[in-house]
Amino acid sequence: MPITRKRQIIKSETDIIVALSKLRTMLEGVGFGELQISSSVTAASELLRNIEKYAGSGWVQFDVMTDSRGPYLEFTATDHGPGIADPEQAMADHFSSSGTLGLGLPGVKRMVDDFTLSSDIGVGTTASFKLWKG
Ligand SMILES: Nc1ncnc2c1ncn2[C@@H]1O[C@H](COP(=O)(O)OP(=O)(O)OP(=O)(O)O)[C@@H](O)[C@H]1O
Ligand SMILES: [Mg+2]
Repeated sequence: MPITRKRQIIKSETDIIVALSKLRTMLEGVGFGELQISSSVTAASELLRNIEKYAGSGWVQFDVMTDSRGPYLEFTATDHGPGIADPEQAMADHFSSSGTLGLGLPGVKRMVDDFTLSSDIGVGTTASFKLWKG
């Protein structure tokens, strides 16, 4: 059962800042600790910056849900950009098609629970994760 839900279009740096701020407020509102909040916001920031950088635009949705382990964040970022030819390679440390560090996606995977990346060339990319309040 969703406790709260936010859904937002991402097409500019301002949209990213607004989304990250709403995410922080939502997590504070349900009592997440600072460690979980900063992991969530950092992971979200990497995924949304990839949307801006590679796809130009997309959208984000986040909910706080609850299960037997307690409250958790469920986060999804989607775009209809060029897609990723080899998602497994994109997840490897230091792989970058743009000459930057290539630590975004592997960093996200290490920071969150249940990270998934699905992508099809010419269709787009969806990245999701969960993070329990702990
Ligand atoms: N939304 C996306 N659409 C298309 N390609 C993407 C997307 N997100 C990531 N990629 C591809 O996956 C690669 C790895 O992404 P990752 O975020 O790990 O590194 P980076 O963005 O290149 O560098 P960094 O995030 O460290 O600045 C990217 O270089 C790009 O080729
Ligand atoms: Mg990146």
